[in-house]
Amino acid sequence: MKVLVIGGGAREHALCRSLSLDPDVTALHCAPGNAGIAEVAELHPVDALDGAAVARLAGELAADLVVVGPEAPLVAGVADAVRAAGIPCFGPSREAALLEGSKAFAKDVMASAGVPTARSYVCATPEEIDRALDAFGAPYVVKDDGLAAGKGVVVTADAAQARAHALSCERVVIEEYLDGPEVSLFAITDGTTVLPLTPAQDFKRALDGDEGPNTGGMGAYSPLPWADPKLVDEVLASVLQPTVDELRRRGTPFTGLLYAGLAITGRGVRVIEFNARFGDPETQVVLARLRTPLAGPLLRAADGTLADQPPLRWHEDAAVTVVVASHNYPGTPRTGDPIEGLDEVAAEDAPYAYVLHAGTRREGDAVVSAGGRVLSVTATGKDLTQARERAYAAVARIRLDGAQHRTDIAREAAGE
Ligand code: AMP
Ligand code: GLY
Repeated sequence: MKVLVIGGGAREHALCRSLSLDPDVTALHCAPGNAGIAEVAELHPVDALDGAAVARLAGELAADLVVVGPEAPLVAGVADAVRAAGIPCFGPSREAALLEGSKAFAKDVMASAGVPTARSYVCATPEEIDRALDAFGAPYVVKDDGLAAGKGVVVTADAAQARAHALSCERVVIEEYLDGPEVSLFAITDGTTVLPLTPAQDFKRALDGDEGPNTGGMGAYSPLPWADPKLVDEVLASVLQPTVDELRRRGTPFTGLLYAGLAITGRGVRVIEFNARFGDPETQVVLARLRTPLAGPLLRAADGTLADQPPLRWHEDAAVTVVVASHNYPGTPRTGDPIEGLDEVAAEDAPYAYVLHAGTRREGDAVVSAGGRVLSVTATGKDLTQARERAYAAVARIRLDGAQHRTDIAREAAGE
């Protein structure tokens, strides 16, 4: 099977790494990719947001499957363009991707499907904003309606800050604060059958102890030793299946990866957000634990035969990933700095720990930073403690001027 992956972050590196290990994958391509993906896939300098160009490339490569990684191409309709060219595509249509592209749309789908989520108001005027902030009280949760790469959400006890963020958004969702640990649960779906993956936890704040601003995600781990073993079945029944059924009922079936961001509150599970693609960095740990070769389930989701997929198999091992970010991330990051130590990780830490590239590019013989999240060091071990040790040992070998990372990824879950 020839596979083309669209995107160029650590999530796409994780996808390409898994696909490159799948014996059914005979050729692996990626557009645009990054310096790390270049080691496992052939790169093509095609704009990920240009549906016609992606469909043309997939046709030229005679791809049997296109996997669209990030949300922006999905919301731009890239999966529609690929499918219109007759090529199976893992990734929802533009209309179904609105589940991520518009928080207000997601709330409407959840209301129709009876999916538990925070109570919320969609506001467009200062009066509506003030009314909603007063109705819920502190802590305030204020979300930009559109795509914001995980940075459009402000959670604060400060009413003035909440109001200022709300006023800066064109359309804003203000909602009830959900108290409790967060879980990311992904499911592969063909629009009818829903196949959940294994749960992971992400660390959204920039600094240790969950301090600092929200980011795209600074680290993740799986499994969740503290979670109820029935969690996956419960979320499948109360969240994932009803949402997929509702989108099919609306005539906009969702094909691809449905990401449920959940809060485990004292009153039960609530959806914090949906995403329409694999999460980053959770994918790094979920795929590190997946035993079943990846291409089969993705192709079956893309061609509508997911009901034929045998149950997924998982490694007992735990996995931890730690994101190394540029100076000043999540503000405007500094880029162009050389990254050293990558060879040492490959020589000393493989196969238990490895680097997945995000914002990197090759400059002559050097690999330099090219984005906010630069790379994601992923490690496996017999438990979270060992996976953490291996991940942080590898992080310590990476030298990037001004870089930052959290030191407490999975620490509490490991019982340390
Ligand atoms: P989102 O982009 O919707 O996932 O929000 C980013 C982060 O903001 C989430 O991972 C939560 O940590 C936090 N957050 C979002 N909505 C809520 C909520 N209703 N209650 C508490 N925290 C929230
Ligand atoms: N890790 C959060 C996200 O992918 O949106």
